[in-house]
Amino acid sequence: MTDNLPLAGRGCVVTGGSRGIGAAIVRLALAQGADVVFGYHSDEKRASTLVDELRAAHPDRQCSALQADVADGGEAERFATEALDRLGRLDVLVNNAGITRDALFARMRPEQWHEVIGTNLDSMYTVTRPLLMPLVKQRGGAVINITSSTGLHGVPGQTAYAAAKAGVIGFTKSLAKEIGARGVTVNAVAPGLIETDMTAAIPEDKAEFLKSLIPSHAFGSPDDVAHLVCYLASEKARYITGQVIEISGGLVL
Ligand SMILES: NC(=O)c1ccc[n+]([C@@H]2O[C@H](COP(=O)([O-])OP(=O)(O)OC[C@H]3O[C@@H](n4cnc5c(N)ncnc54)[C@H](OP(=O)(O)O)[C@@H]3O)[C@@H](O)[C@H]2O)c1
Repeated sequence: MTDNLPLAGRGCVVTGGSRGIGAAIVRLALAQGADVVFGYHSDEKRASTLVDELRAAHPDRQCSALQADVADGGEAERFATEALDRLGRLDVLVNNAGITRDALFARMRPEQWHEVIGTNLDSMYTVTRPLLMPLVKQRGGAVINITSSTGLHGVPGQTAYAAAKAGVIGFTKSLAKEIGARGVTVNAVAPGLIETDMTAAIPEDKAEFLKSLIPSHAFGSPDDVAHLVCYLASEKARYITGQVIEISGGLVL
Protein backbone atom coordinates (compact mmCIF):
# COMPACT_ATOMS: atom_id res chain seq x y z
CA MET A 1 0.00 0.00 0.00
CA THR A 2 1.82 3.16 -1.15
CA ASP A 3 -0.97 5.59 -0.16
CA ASN A 4 0.24 5.64 3.44
CA LEU A 5 3.77 6.64 2.51
CA PRO A 6 4.75 10.20 3.58
CA LEU A 7 5.36 11.44 0.01
CA ALA A 8 2.73 9.31 -1.78
CA GLY A 9 1.68 10.85 -5.09
CA ARG A 10 3.90 13.92 -4.64
CA GLY A 11 5.71 15.33 -7.65
CA CYS A 12 9.31 16.19 -6.71
CA VAL A 13 12.02 18.02 -8.62
CA VAL A 14 15.59 17.67 -7.29
CA THR A 15 18.56 19.50 -8.81
CA GLY A 16 21.96 17.79 -8.66
CA GLY A 17 20.26 14.47 -8.04
CA SER A 18 22.69 12.14 -9.81
CA ARG A 19 25.10 11.61 -6.91
CA GLY A 20 25.96 12.48 -3.31
CA ILE A 21 23.28 14.15 -1.19
CA GLY A 22 20.98 14.72 -4.17
CA ALA A 23 20.99 11.02 -5.13
CA ALA A 24 20.17 10.06 -1.52
CA ILE A 25 17.23 12.51 -1.59
CA VAL A 26 16.00 11.09 -4.93
CA ARG A 27 16.24 7.49 -3.61
CA LEU A 28 14.45 8.24 -0.35
CA ALA A 29 11.74 10.40 -1.97
CA LEU A 30 10.90 7.52 -4.33
CA ALA A 31 10.96 5.02 -1.45
CA GLN A 32 8.54 7.32 0.38
CA GLY A 33 6.09 7.30 -2.54
CA ALA A 34 7.05 10.34 -4.64
CA ASP A 35 7.46 10.69 -8.40
CA VAL A 36 10.82 12.34 -9.10
CA VAL A 37 12.52 14.20 -11.92
CA PHE A 38 16.11 15.06 -11.06
CA GLY A 39 18.77 17.16 -12.73
CA TYR A 40 22.44 16.60 -13.44
CA HIS A 41 25.11 18.59 -15.22
CA SER A 42 27.98 16.62 -16.72
CA ASP A 43 27.76 12.92 -15.86
CA GLU A 44 25.01 11.41 -18.02
CA LYS A 45 26.08 7.83 -17.36
CA ARG A 46 25.80 8.28 -13.61
CA ALA A 47 22.35 9.83 -13.99
CA SER A 48 21.01 7.12 -16.31
CA THR A 49 22.40 4.33 -14.11
CA LEU A 50 20.51 5.80 -11.15
CA VAL A 51 17.31 6.10 -13.21
CA ASP A 52 17.60 2.43 -14.28
CA GLU A 53 18.16 1.32 -10.67
CA LEU A 54 15.22 3.31 -9.35
CA ARG A 55 12.79 2.38 -12.14
CA ALA A 56 13.55 -1.28 -11.41
CA ALA A 57 13.02 -0.76 -7.67
CA HIS A 58 9.84 1.33 -8.07
CA PRO A 59 8.13 0.32 -11.33
CA ASP A 60 4.88 2.01 -10.22
CA ARG A 61 6.52 5.43 -9.84
CA GLN A 62 7.97 7.94 -12.22
CA CYS A 63 11.70 8.61 -12.17
CA SER A 64 13.70 10.40 -14.85
CA ALA A 65 16.74 12.61 -15.26
CA LEU A 66 17.28 15.85 -17.18
CA GLN A 67 20.56 17.50 -18.09
CA ALA A 68 20.96 21.25 -17.48
CA ASP A 69 23.40 23.79 -16.11
CA VAL A 70 21.44 25.46 -13.30
CA ALA A 71 23.73 28.49 -13.50
CA ASP A 72 22.35 29.22 -16.97
CA GLY A 73 18.93 30.89 -16.97
CA GLY A 74 17.83 29.44 -20.32
CA GLU A 75 18.89 25.89 -19.48
CA ALA A 76 17.31 26.07 -16.02
CA GLU A 77 14.01 27.29 -17.49
CA ARG A 78 14.01 24.42 -20.01
CA PHE A 79 14.79 22.00 -17.16
CA ALA A 80 11.98 23.35 -14.99
CA THR A 81 9.39 23.33 -17.79
CA GLU A 82 10.29 19.82 -18.94
CA ALA A 83 10.34 18.48 -15.36
CA LEU A 84 6.89 19.90 -14.71
CA ASP A 85 5.63 18.47 -17.98
CA ARG A 86 6.90 15.00 -17.12
CA LEU A 87 5.52 15.03 -13.56
CA GLY A 88 2.15 16.59 -14.35
CA ARG A 89 2.13 18.15 -10.88
CA LEU A 90 4.68 19.75 -8.60
CA ASP A 91 4.65 19.49 -4.81
CA VAL A 92 8.31 19.60 -3.82
CA LEU A 93 11.35 21.43 -5.18
CA VAL A 94 14.77 20.61 -3.74
CA ASN A 95 17.44 23.09 -4.85
CA ASN A 96 20.46 20.89 -4.16
CA ALA A 97 22.96 21.37 -7.03
CA GLY A 98 26.15 22.95 -5.78
CA ILE A 99 29.91 23.14 -6.26
CA THR A 100 32.99 24.33 -4.41
CA ARG A 101 36.04 25.97 -5.97
CA ASP A 102 38.17 26.61 -2.91
CA ALA A 103 40.86 29.31 -3.03
CA LEU A 104 42.19 31.89 -0.61
CA PHE A 105 40.42 35.14 -1.44
CA ALA A 106 43.63 36.98 -2.36
CA ARG A 107 44.24 34.38 -5.07
CA MET A 108 40.68 33.79 -6.19
CA ARG A 109 40.19 34.14 -9.92
CA PRO A 110 37.02 35.83 -11.22
CA GLU A 111 35.87 32.61 -12.93
CA GLN A 112 36.08 30.70 -9.62
CA TRP A 113 33.95 33.35 -7.90
CA HIS A 114 31.35 33.46 -10.71
CA GLU A 115 31.12 29.69 -11.12
CA VAL A 116 30.44 29.19 -7.41
CA ILE A 117 27.93 32.05 -7.16
CA GLY A 118 26.26 30.95 -10.41
CA THR A 119 25.77 27.30 -9.46
CA ASN A 120 24.96 27.74 -5.77
CA LEU A 121 23.09 31.06 -5.67
CA ASP A 122 21.92 32.14 -9.16
CA SER A 123 20.29 28.71 -9.41
CA MET A 124 17.89 29.70 -6.62
CA TYR A 125 16.50 32.25 -9.09
CA THR A 126 16.86 30.34 -12.34
CA VAL A 127 15.25 27.10 -11.14
CA THR A 128 12.76 28.33 -8.53
CA ARG A 129 11.20 31.15 -10.54
CA PRO A 130 9.68 29.06 -13.35
CA LEU A 131 8.39 26.54 -10.79
CA LEU A 132 6.95 29.01 -8.31
CA MET A 133 3.54 29.69 -9.89
CA PRO A 134 2.62 26.01 -10.20
CA LEU A 135 3.33 25.62 -6.45
CA VAL A 136 1.52 28.81 -5.50
CA LYS A 137 -1.53 28.04 -7.69
CA GLN A 138 -1.80 24.62 -6.10
CA ARG A 139 -1.77 26.31 -2.65
CA GLY A 140 0.52 23.72 -1.12
CA GLY A 141 4.01 22.32 -1.36
CA ALA A 142 7.55 22.66 -0.13
CA VAL A 143 10.75 24.27 -1.37
CA ILE A 144 13.92 23.00 0.30
CA ASN A 145 17.20 24.76 -0.43
CA ILE A 146 20.51 23.11 0.43
CA THR A 147 22.86 25.62 1.99
CA SER A 148 25.88 24.75 4.19
CA SER A 149 27.42 25.20 7.64
CA THR A 150 29.95 27.30 5.71
CA GLY A 151 27.20 29.81 4.90
CA LEU A 152 26.40 30.12 8.61
CA HIS A 153 29.89 30.23 10.10
CA GLY A 154 32.44 30.93 7.32
CA VAL A 155 35.49 28.86 6.39
CA PRO A 156 38.88 30.11 5.14
CA GLY A 157 39.31 29.39 1.44
CA GLN A 158 35.55 29.40 0.91
CA THR A 159 34.61 33.09 0.67
CA ALA A 160 32.68 32.62 -2.59
CA TYR A 161 30.98 29.44 -1.38
CA ALA A 162 30.13 31.06 1.99
CA ALA A 163 28.74 34.15 0.23
CA ALA A 164 26.59 31.98 -2.05
CA LYS A 165 25.34 29.75 0.76
CA ALA A 166 24.61 32.73 3.05
CA GLY A 167 22.67 34.18 0.11
CA VAL A 168 20.64 30.97 -0.07
CA ILE A 169 19.62 31.54 3.57
CA GLY A 170 18.42 35.11 2.92
CA PHE A 171 16.58 33.92 -0.19
CA THR A 172 14.90 31.15 1.81
CA LYS A 173 13.69 33.39 4.62
CA SER A 174 12.32 36.06 2.27
CA LEU A 175 10.57 33.63 -0.07
CA ALA A 176 9.03 31.86 2.93
CA LYS A 177 7.45 35.18 3.96
CA GLU A 178 6.29 35.93 0.40
CA ILE A 179 4.45 32.67 -0.22
CA GLY A 180 3.62 31.35 3.25
CA ALA A 181 0.03 32.53 2.91
CA ARG A 182 -0.30 30.26 -0.15
CA GLY A 183 0.47 27.17 1.91
CA VAL A 184 3.96 26.69 0.47
CA THR A 185 6.81 26.21 2.95
CA VAL A 186 10.38 27.27 2.17
CA ASN A 187 13.25 25.99 4.31
CA ALA A 188 17.01 25.65 4.12
CA VAL A 189 19.03 22.62 5.17
CA ALA A 190 22.64 23.31 6.14
CA PRO A 191 24.82 20.19 6.09
CA GLY A 192 28.18 20.19 7.83
CA LEU A 193 30.61 17.61 6.44
CA ILE A 194 28.94 14.79 4.55
CA GLU A 195 30.66 11.87 2.79
CA THR A 196 30.30 12.65 -0.94
CA ASP A 197 32.61 13.36 -3.89
CA MET A 198 32.73 16.96 -2.63
CA THR A 199 34.37 16.01 0.68
CA ALA A 200 36.41 13.17 -0.88
CA ALA A 201 38.47 15.96 -2.47
CA ILE A 202 39.61 17.19 0.98
CA PRO A 203 43.24 16.14 1.69
CA GLU A 204 43.47 13.42 4.37
CA ASP A 205 45.28 15.50 7.00
CA LYS A 206 42.73 18.28 6.66
CA ALA A 207 39.84 15.78 6.78
CA GLU A 208 41.26 14.36 10.05
CA PHE A 209 41.48 17.88 11.50
CA LEU A 210 37.89 18.62 10.46
CA LYS A 211 36.71 15.34 12.05
CA SER A 212 38.33 16.47 15.32
CA LEU A 213 35.88 19.43 15.31
CA ILE A 214 32.89 17.04 15.26
CA PRO A 215 31.85 15.43 18.58
CA SER A 216 31.46 11.96 16.97
CA HIS A 217 34.70 12.46 14.94
CA ALA A 218 32.85 11.28 11.81
CA PHE A 219 31.42 12.87 8.69
CA GLY A 220 27.69 12.43 8.09
CA SER A 221 26.15 10.31 5.35
CA PRO A 222 24.00 11.55 2.44
CA ASP A 223 21.13 9.53 3.95
CA ASP A 224 21.30 11.61 7.14
CA VAL A 225 20.54 14.71 5.06
CA ALA A 226 17.96 12.96 2.86
CA HIS A 227 15.82 11.99 5.87
CA LEU A 228 15.65 15.62 7.00
CA VAL A 229 14.84 16.85 3.49
CA CYS A 230 12.10 14.26 2.98
CA TYR A 231 10.59 15.16 6.36
CA LEU A 232 10.50 18.84 5.34
CA ALA A 233 8.92 17.75 2.03
CA SER A 234 6.12 15.91 3.82
CA GLU A 235 2.79 17.15 5.18
CA LYS A 236 4.10 16.47 8.70
CA ALA A 237 6.36 19.54 8.37
CA ARG A 238 3.60 21.88 7.18
CA TYR A 239 4.11 24.26 10.16
CA ILE A 240 7.88 24.64 9.61
CA THR A 241 8.87 27.47 7.27
CA GLY A 242 11.60 30.08 6.88
CA GLN A 243 14.01 27.94 8.92
CA VAL A 244 17.65 26.99 8.48
CA ILE A 245 18.24 23.54 9.93
CA GLU A 246 21.88 22.63 10.42
CA ILE A 247 22.77 18.94 10.16
CA SER A 248 26.41 18.74 11.10
CA GLY A 249 26.86 16.28 13.97
CA GLY A 250 27.59 19.27 16.20
CA LEU A 251 30.50 20.51 14.07
CA VAL A 252 32.00 23.71 15.47
CA LEU A 253 33.73 25.72 12.76
N1 LIG B 1 29.11 17.18 0.90
C1 LIG B 1 29.11 18.05 1.89
O1 LIG B 1 29.83 17.89 2.89
C2 LIG B 1 28.24 19.27 1.84
C3 LIG B 1 28.22 20.10 2.97
C4 LIG B 1 27.42 21.22 2.97
C5 LIG B 1 26.62 21.50 1.88
N2 LIG B 1 26.66 20.69 0.80
C6 LIG B 1 25.80 21.05 -0.32
O2 LIG B 1 24.98 19.94 -0.65
C7 LIG B 1 24.69 19.94 -2.04
C8 LIG B 1 25.08 18.60 -2.64
O3 LIG B 1 26.46 18.38 -2.38
P1 LIG B 1 27.18 16.97 -2.68
O4 LIG B 1 28.30 16.87 -1.74
O5 LIG B 1 26.17 15.91 -2.77
O6 LIG B 1 27.77 17.31 -4.13
P2 LIG B 1 28.35 16.30 -5.26
O7 LIG B 1 28.45 14.92 -4.74
O8 LIG B 1 29.55 17.00 -5.78
O9 LIG B 1 27.17 16.32 -6.38
C9 LIG B 1 26.84 17.53 -6.99
C10 LIG B 1 25.61 17.35 -7.85
O10 LIG B 1 25.27 18.63 -8.42
C11 LIG B 1 25.28 18.54 -9.85
N3 LIG B 1 25.77 19.81 -10.39
C12 LIG B 1 26.99 20.38 -10.20
N4 LIG B 1 27.07 21.53 -10.90
C13 LIG B 1 25.89 21.69 -11.54
C14 LIG B 1 25.37 22.65 -12.45
N5 LIG B 1 26.08 23.73 -12.83
N6 LIG B 1 24.11 22.48 -12.93
C15 LIG B 1 23.37 21.41 -12.56
N7 LIG B 1 23.80 20.45 -11.72
C16 LIG B 1 25.05 20.59 -11.22
C17 LIG B 1 26.18 17.37 -10.17
O11 LIG B 1 25.89 16.84 -11.47
P3 LIG B 1 27.07 16.15 -12.39
O12 LIG B 1 27.72 15.11 -11.55
O13 LIG B 1 26.35 15.62 -13.57
O14 LIG B 1 28.00 17.27 -12.75
C18 LIG B 1 25.82 16.40 -9.03
O15 LIG B 1 24.59 15.76 -9.31
C19 LIG B 1 25.46 21.11 -2.62
O16 LIG B 1 24.62 22.25 -2.70
C20 LIG B 1 26.54 21.36 -1.60
O17 LIG B 1 27.00 22.69 -1.62
C21 LIG B 1 27.44 19.57 0.74
